[in-house]
Amino acid sequence: MDTLEAIMTRKSVRNFTDQAISDEALEIILKAGMSGPSCVNARDWSFVVTRESELLKKMADANGRPADPLRGAALGILVLGDLERAFKLAPDYWIIDGSIAAQNMILAAHAMGIGSVWLGTYPQMERVEAQRKLLGLPDTVIPHSILAFGYPDSSKETISGDTRNDRYESNRIHMDKW
Ligand SMILES: Cc1cc2nc3c(=O)[nH]c(=O)nc-3n(C[C@H](O)[C@H](O)[C@H](O)COP(=O)(O)O)c2cc1C
Repeated sequence: MDTLEAIMTRKSVRNFTDQAISDEALEIILKAGMSGPSCVNARDWSFVVTRESELLKKMADANGRPADPLRGAALGILVLGDLERAFKLAPDYWIIDGSIAAQNMILAAHAMGIGSVWLGTYPQMERVEAQRKLLGLPDTVIPHSILAFGYPDSSKETISGDTRNDRYESNRIHMDKW
């Protein structure tokens, strides 16, 4: 799958088969996450990675109902911002850097036929604090988002591979002036 096809055909997957995700695929996903741009190249992220179903369920509990897809996932990755590495003059860039890492991992997984869904954590502070408590995170490490990964259960998911052209809205574009 080339880059444009991956971008245009990605869609959230919330139902997964029991098929495991290999160490090789996991490494590619994580390398993709760490390959994106970050402010002043701070690379101010870390990742908690788990295949443990009990921990996936506890992470889902901590994030609330919208994180239910994590319960059936083969793999979960919690993206974390690391304030000790963040750009000192504007540390909030950690949020953007974490988002880029998350999207890169989602696209890399999709290119390998692995589905995923982004489960928002930051800035919903009750979720942030619940993940922090569950995982014993230091104060300088902030839960950003959870990504649930697995092979799509095609009996429950529609894998249409549509091109997403339906989202193109020319009225969002302002050429040369507002
Ligand atoms: C910041 C963010 C938070 C999200 N949180 C959730 C979530 O908690 N649960 C969920 O099922 N999907 C979540 N999503 C996925 C969106 O619902 C999904 O991307 C959107 O509906 C568009 O659908 P698509 O990803 O299939 O293109 C989140 C996406 C983003 C970017």
